[in-house]
Amino acid sequence: MMKKGEKILFGIVGFLVVITVINFTVLEKASHKSDKPLYPILTHYDFSPAGMRGYSIYEHDNCYDCHKAVGSGTSMGVTLDGLGSEHDVNYFYNFLKYPEKTYGAKTLDHGAPPKDAAYVSSLPDSDLHDIAIFLSELKSDQGSSSSFEPPKGDSSFIDAMVDMWTPANWRSKYRDIREWMKSKNEDKHDGKQ
Ligand code: HEC
Repeated sequence: MMKKGEKILFGIVGFLVVITVINFTVLEKASHKSDKPLYPILTHYDFSPAGMRGYSIYEHDNCYDCHKAVGSGTSMGVTLDGLGSEHDVNYFYNFLKYPEKTYGAKTLDHGAPPKDAAYVSSLPDSDLHDIAIFLSELKSDQGSSSSFEPPKGDSSFIDAMVDMWTPANWRSKYRDIREWMKSKNEDKHDGKQ
């Protein structure tokens, strides 16, 4: 016979298991029936033929050892998904060929030997060009997990949390990315006029 406490514990655990199974079943059914995805997909990969070539070069030249792109690769290094919304083909080509000059900061792995990714800058020019096109096609919309830009709209809850938890010295050290985005959009605006 179970003691009273054991019965209560088993009851609670059993109840949670039942709720989980029901939730899972309902969500699965709902996602099968509806043609809309449950979550909006904000990262997209529409590769041109040159972009596809760049992708296969990327796969064969060990970039995966340190990077993640198209949703797979190592999470230890720099994620390349979404970078295409930040920079253009020229930037990527220049970065691959002349890493430190283009990066504007000291690099860790790209650059001159004996750095681990030194081989990248001596790949054939046509390969670098295709890789650059591939990278420029790794797009993501604002608010996706691979975007640098947070979701649209304001949240007073998040603002309050940030206000409460941000260490004082961060305020002078870092800029709020939303202010950076505002100034970026104003620049774009100015450019059009
Ligand atoms: C040994 C690890 C390593 C390998 C291999 C490697 N990378 Fe990188 N990559 C890095 C690191 C680290 C950075 C950040 C810059 C730095 O410190 O070198 C980076 C940065 C980048 C960036 C970012 C530029 C930016 O401005 O944000 C691109 C693009 C890139 N790598 C592409 C590639 C491609 C394409 C390959 C394969 C041909 C490759 N990398 C191979 C480690 C690596």
